[in-house]
Amino acid sequence: MSDTAKKPRRKVAQKKTTKSAASAQAVVKNIVSAAVAGADVTNAQLIARRNAAVARGVASAAPIYAQYAENAELWDVEGNRYIDFVGGIGVLNTGHRHPKVIAAAKAQEDHYTHTSFQVVPYGPYIELAEKLNALAPGDAPKKTLLVTTGAEAVENAVKIARAATGRPGVIAFTGGYHGRTLLTLGMTGKVSPYKKGVGPFPADVFRAPFPSVRDGITVEDAITGLKNLFLTDAEPSRVAAIIIEPVLGEGGYTPVPFEMMHQLREICDQHGILLIADEVQAGFGRTGTWFAIEHSGVVPDLITVAKSMAGGYPLAGVIGRADVMDAMEPGGLGGTYGGNPVACAAALAAIEAIEDEGLLARSTAMGETLKARFAEIGARSAPYRFWDIRGLGAMIAVEFVTDFDSAKPDADFTKRVIAHALKRGLLLLSCGMHGNAVRVMVPLTASDAVVEEGLSIFEAAVQAALAEEA
Ligand SMILES: Cc1ncc(COP(=O)(O)O)c(C=O)c1O
Repeated sequence: MSDTAKKPRRKVAQKKTTKSAASAQAVVKNIVSAAVAGADVTNAQLIARRNAAVARGVASAAPIYAQYAENAELWDVEGNRYIDFVGGIGVLNTGHRHPKVIAAAKAQEDHYTHTSFQVVPYGPYIELAEKLNALAPGDAPKKTLLVTTGAEAVENAVKIARAATGRPGVIAFTGGYHGRTLLTLGMTGKVSPYKKGVGPFPADVFRAPFPSVRDGITVEDAITGLKNLFLTDAEPSRVAAIIIEPVLGEGGYTPVPFEMMHQLREICDQHGILLIADEVQAGFGRTGTWFAIEHSGVVPDLITVAKSMAGGYPLAGVIGRADVMDAMEPGGLGGTYGGNPVACAAALAAIEAIEDEGLLARSTAMGETLKARFAEIGARSAPYRFWDIRGLGAMIAVEFVTDFDSAKPDADFTKRVIAHALKRGLLLLSCGMHGNAVRVMVPLTASDAVVEEGLSIFEAAVQAALAEEA
């Protein structure tokens, strides 16, 4: 952390400032100082305690410990400020602690926090289901199931598809990420670090190729690969569902070409297979539309949702055609915490914030700015290292290579850029099959000034990583 970005530790605002006298900025500064002053521990102390107490398999990208966060900014327990381009891995399209989300959650907490929808149901679950059914693309009537995590949503989408079709098979794609439970790991198309040493995975999960410029796989090749799969391993009449992320998340922020999405829809219709869009990372405004699949005009049968739906609270769901969603017997779906009322209230408020604050349009505009600024930064600092800048809306990634001609993925450079950014006060996260892309999930509510500050730090981090090689 540079000295300029570092805030004095445990410095509480001493002087009482009247609201009328203080600027909004000063008020925020005081709140932050007070919140940070509450921390009586250092990052190093927490690292030591964590190493002794927390399972090694839970990795953390940054060696800092959170103390306070607001919108697109976060302070650690030592008072260091960070601009957050990660948003808790795509969870915070409406920012840290959006006032509407916090107010709705607090109001719900004053009534009840848990009854289990399976025992005593409640209104916020219904209201959210109605809202999601209305937002999901397509004219057919919809129904919704609420659960807690993205992986659970994907597992349930597969269960529903199997029940609706009476078939076992599921087809997923190379580079796809669907979660860390055993079924979703079976569907996840990236070995390291997720799948190492924890197989075997459930049967009847098949993998088709995802188009890749890097690997020279065109849409035509990918569709041929899928059709070959039908001939070699996955008899189409035994396939319940094809699941695809409309924009690969962990796999590298690569959008599915629209033409491919249309062909998948046709193939599904031809064989009575259900099409599942996994919108866990790409949904809720990240790409400039409620759901990323809307860009293609294709209507899926089922959609899995989570992350930014509830503005920081654990909530996920499956939205789908009512006839498909109703395939399972009562009692076949659910879970003790599924559709927690506080999380439902938060989700309703987050959705309202996206609507009221025009965050879909903001996402599109932010995406254009990010792409243009990354191109500029690349051209200025290292054109031969920026191999690709891609994405939809504000779901943008920059891919680094050792040199433009060989296009060899440079995971080491990527790691160093992320480390230099952290030192300078910017949180970044990698993605991609080769770990050589940096993805941007900055809250859509972030001000232009904060986004610009983050981009300047990114540029400084790229230059610092390059300087190490000189
Ligand atoms: C597309 C996609 N599906 C599913 C998941 C799993 O979600 P969770 O981590 O909430 O289980 C993720 C998580 O990153 C994801 O990006």
